[in-house]
Amino acid sequence: MREYLLKQINAAGGWLSFERFMDLALYAPILGYYSGGAQKFGRGGDFTTAPEVSSLYGACVAVQCQEILRQLNAGSILEIGAGSGRLAADVLGSLDSLRTLPRHYWILEISAELRDRQREHIERHQPHLLERVQWLDRPPEESFDGVILANEVLDALPVARFRWRADAIEELGVAAEDGRFAWAGRAANSAMARICGALSRAGGGWEDGYVSEYCPRLIAWTQAVTRSLRKGAALWFDYGLPRAQYYLPERHDGTLLCHFRHRAHGDPFLMVGLQDITAWVDFTLLAEASRECGFNLAGFTTQGYFLAGTGIDQQMQLIAGNDARQFARLANQARQLMLPGEMGERFKAMAWQRGMHEPLRGFEVLDLRHTL
Ligand SMILES: C[S@@+](CC[C@H](N)C(=O)[O-])C[C@H]1O[C@@H](n2cnc3c(N)ncnc32)[C@H](O)[C@@H]1O
Repeated sequence: MREYLLKQINAAGGWLSFERFMDLALYAPILGYYSGGAQKFGRGGDFTTAPEVSSLYGACVAVQCQEILRQLNAGSILEIGAGSGRLAADVLGSLDSLRTLPRHYWILEISAELRDRQREHIERHQPHLLERVQWLDRPPEESFDGVILANEVLDALPVARFRWRADAIEELGVAAEDGRFAWAGRAANSAMARICGALSRAGGGWEDGYVSEYCPRLIAWTQAVTRSLRKGAALWFDYGLPRAQYYLPERHDGTLLCHFRHRAHGDPFLMVGLQDITAWVDFTLLAEASRECGFNLAGFTTQGYFLAGTGIDQQMQLIAGNDARQFARLANQARQLMLPGEMGERFKAMAWQRGMHEPLRGFEVLDLRHTL
């Protein structure tokens, strides 16, 4: 992968935008992190997402899906970026118990290797529901009613990186120095300079040398993946912040976060192709995208409060039954998902609605839309 990227830098005249570098490092055919065969998720992988922590998570997401599917009378689910397939299997299993199965469960997945893994996982855990699952190369062509789900996908969209200078803003890209990757700045174009000016004002003003990033493709990408939803909701789960907190002056080195074997660090040039590279989500931008895409912003809250609203305590009772040891195990997992110092506050949930306005229970306990 390193050789391949060095060649790309050379072919581009010695400088590759960071957005392009991240795109290739994650998604280049065969070599990219998400194209290769590394385990990635869960204990034996590089990072643990909420569905990997506990099936309580999928059970709660299913409760929210059930409410929406009932309001629609019926519908389908489109999951984007399904990882190991755990969320799909847990959501389908819970909806089956709730007698609200979706007509189709589509998975839009960029990685062929992960598609195979998702199929295996669903076949192993919900074999009777596999026939409902269909993998897509692109969003469904025909319009549909239902729910779109994306858990930790937005943080994997490539971002542009910049350095704030009082006299001229720089776009940070990647150059090669003695066969190694090195940051290299170039004068930002006028579009980037305008965006950075607005982000700086939102964050409260930056000092010379402030470095951060933003996701230039977020609006176009969300437009593309939500276009065919006629009526229903899109649910986005990810780590991130409203813009004013994201771009605070003290966060002067951005939010890039790389994962390799459960170690998190901020250096995207290490173990390229073998480690995950992510950036936090600017939820104000995601709220702006909802309007651009023709949705109303139906809710914004923390993961902890989303799980409280969708009844995680009842799910624990339901799954554990009279098994006290199982209950204790689930209680530990619930703590990991909900506590502010764990995943409860850093991770957020956002809901968009199109063609419907009913309140959504996952967003009723704590409404944080005013912070966006
Ligand atoms: C960090 S993983 C999250 C996986 C899973 N949702 C979970 O929470 O465990 C990101 C997932 O999004 C997929 N992905 C990334 N960009 C995508 C895109 N543009 N379209 C579809 N899937 C994408 C990756 O292949 C991977 O399955």
